[in-house]
Amino acid sequence: MSNIFKFAQIALHESSCNDLLDLTHEAQRLALKGELNFESIISVQSIEKVKFPEHPLLLPPREMPKRKLGTPTGLAAFFHAIAHVEFVAIYLAWDIVYRFRGLPEEFYRDWLRVADEEAQHFELLRVKLQTFGVDYGDLPAHSGLWDLAQDTAHDILVRLALVPRCMEAHGLDVTPPLIEKFKQLGDDNAVDILSRILTDEVGHVALGSKWFKFLCDQQNFDVENQYQSLLLKYYKGGMLKGGFNRELRLSAGFSETELDWLVAHSH
Ligand SMILES: [Fe+2]
Repeated sequence: MSNIFKFAQIALHESSCNDLLDLTHEAQRLALKGELNFESIISVQSIEKVKFPEHPLLLPPREMPKRKLGTPTGLAAFFHAIAHVEFVAIYLAWDIVYRFRGLPEEFYRDWLRVADEEAQHFELLRVKLQTFGVDYGDLPAHSGLWDLAQDTAHDILVRLALVPRCMEAHGLDVTPPLIEKFKQLGDDNAVDILSRILTDEVGHVALGSKWFKFLCDQQNFDVENQYQSLLLKYYKGGMLKGGFNRELRLSAGFSETELDWLVAHSH
C-alpha cells in the first residue's frame, strides 16, 4: 500500500512542477479510497533539504516587477505572483504532513486535502495565466514565502500559529478587495477563480485553528495566550498588517478576543 510520508518525501525533495501536481492528486485519490497508509515509516529530513523547481527564479520582493492590473503585462505579473503563492501553499501543506509526526490520522488527512485543493488553485491560476501567453516559471517569483516555513519547522504549534493562522489568514483580508477590483474590471473568470480560492482558504485557516486548539488543549495551554505569545515571539517585522476581515476570520476559527488583540497589534 502507498504511504503518505513517501509521497510527502518526493513532493518536497524531488518533484518538477507537474510531478508535484500529479502526485498530490494521486495521494488524495488513494486517501479517499482508503488505499493510503499513514504509518511513519521514513525519517524526517531537515527543512534545508526541501527543493523547489529550477523555475521560477526566486527574487527578493524589492526586485519583483511591478504589477498594475490595468495592462496585460501587469495582469500576467499579478496572476503569476498569486499562482506562485498557491504553488508554495502546496509545499506548505505537504511540509506540515511530512515534518510533524505522531499526530492523529485525521491531521494528515486534513492537510493532504489542503495540498490537493492548493494544487487545484494553482491549476486554475495557471490556465488563467496562460491566456496572457505566460506560463508559471516564465517570470521571477517572490523568494520570501518559504521563510516562515523554515522559521517554524521546529514546532508544530509555532507552525500553525504563524503559517495558517497568520500568513494564510492574511489572504482572507486581501482577497475580497481583489475580487471587487476584478468585478469592476469586468473579468468574471478572475472573480470566479478568486471566489473559489477564498472559500477554500477559509477552510484551510479553520483547519489551522482546529489543530492549534487541539494541540493547546492536549498540553493544557490557554489557546488565546499561546497564540499571542507565539506571534510576539516569532512574527518578524514588528507590527502585523491590519485590515482584518472579521467575518471571514471568525468563520475560520478566530475568537473575538484574538481579533481585538490583532487589531491592537497592527498598523
Ligand atoms: Fe490556496
